[in-house]
Amino acid sequence: MSKLWGGRFTKKPEEWVDEFNASISFDQQLVFEDIEGSIAHVTMLKKCSILSVKEADQILQGLHTLHDKALKQELDFSVEYEDIHLNLEKLLIDEIGEVGGKLHTGRSRNDQIATDMHLFLKRRVQEIIELIDELQEGIILQSEKNVETIIPGYTHLQRAQPISFAHHLMCYFWMLQRDKERFQDSLKRIDLSPLGAGALAGTTFPIDRAYSAELLGFDSYYENSLDAVSDRDFIVEFLSNGSILMTHLSRLAEEFILWSTEEFRFIELDDSYTTGSSIMPQKKNPDMAELVRGKTGRVNGNLLSLLTVLKGLPLAYNKDMQEDKEGMFDTVKTVVGSLKIFNGMVRTMTVKQKRMKEAVSNDFSNATELADYLAAKGVPFRQAHEIVGKLVLHCIGEGYYLKDVPLEEYQQHSPFIEEDIYTILEPYAAVERRNSYGGTGFQQVKAQIDKGKSLLKSTETANK
Ligand code: ARG
Repeated sequence: MSKLWGGRFTKKPEEWVDEFNASISFDQQLVFEDIEGSIAHVTMLKKCSILSVKEADQILQGLHTLHDKALKQELDFSVEYEDIHLNLEKLLIDEIGEVGGKLHTGRSRNDQIATDMHLFLKRRVQEIIELIDELQEGIILQSEKNVETIIPGYTHLQRAQPISFAHHLMCYFWMLQRDKERFQDSLKRIDLSPLGAGALAGTTFPIDRAYSAELLGFDSYYENSLDAVSDRDFIVEFLSNGSILMTHLSRLAEEFILWSTEEFRFIELDDSYTTGSSIMPQKKNPDMAELVRGKTGRVNGNLLSLLTVLKGLPLAYNKDMQEDKEGMFDTVKTVVGSLKIFNGMVRTMTVKQKRMKEAVSNDFSNATELADYLAAKGVPFRQAHEIVGKLVLHCIGEGYYLKDVPLEEYQQHSPFIEEDIYTILEPYAAVERRNSYGGTGFQQVKAQIDKGKSLLKSTETANK
């Protein structure tokens, strides 16, 4: 078999050179996009009378046959034909004869690969947006059940102030909302056709780029043929959005892992998202959460790889750009998998409300309540802070908490402290009072959940 570009050459590369050069082992994932791109291209060539109706119809029929075979996984790809484009072209010629060689009229692999990637990413990003939506819905379901479940809120991983567990969960809802909006916005730059840019300079054939873009369902097409074939920003942006999303999931993973420890016991992950130990029979390991946290590393790596590949590349296409694919496929797979795992994990976890209540009853996370109480009575906040600090130190010495301090002792520290302090110190009351906009007060949390729900409804309608 000879190469499709054999004319200029007198020697064939050695087998291992072919192996090094080829991308077919991974770009075969673009088989459907590549065939669709070709179908649109030929349909356009026919409409513009660049190919005769007969020729175009023969090619179209051949492409449909290849599509059917691809569905049945009956296509045989070979390293000798380097990539998905040349492999399909060769298979087409085998299928319909020499006329198949007309498919590549007015086109180059450079605009072809860019078209494939735009098509591929557009679909995957839409899928990712839907998966984010499902996870947000899972978070809402858990939040609705836990508005009045109180946990210690932390800063520096030290107990800070009591908060509603739903408030904590809803924080992830908003992080995911930003992720979703970033992916949605990126679609503007993905939904763009490079087809017809040729190798770099356009073509002498009277093609109709608007028509092929329309056939492929693209919103628009590139203005500059060099840009069309050299732009990989849309992939960098995707990888970056993937990294930010994974960073969010990784933070949630870390919290799930901590919360399932014996030390916290705030949640129990469902058996179906955990594993056992081969030696320690008592163990239930949060492997899925750990894997999501760990896989964030490769997703970040994919972003940095592509930025490094592109840095310093002259215009237009350079073979370096073949290196854009594996990282992109990997990030798609990792992000999709991680979102699915989290969706299941969030919906099935058990929230140990009693244990959370115990935790928050025996700590100093209500110290700010006392300081605020004094400040409300006119004590300058700085002084109030000092008084409460001394009281906490006193309690640590005595081995009890603020709720256990007798009133006489309180009054020795400050005459402003009265009997009502004990209700003020209750964690439930403390949370309820934090009713400033966006705070953890129950009313605020409920309002947030309602807002979240209406946002989900609006993406639902937008996707329809
Ligand atoms: N396999 C190539 C890639 O993935 C396709 C484009 C090749 N173009 C070229 N002129 N060699 O980037």
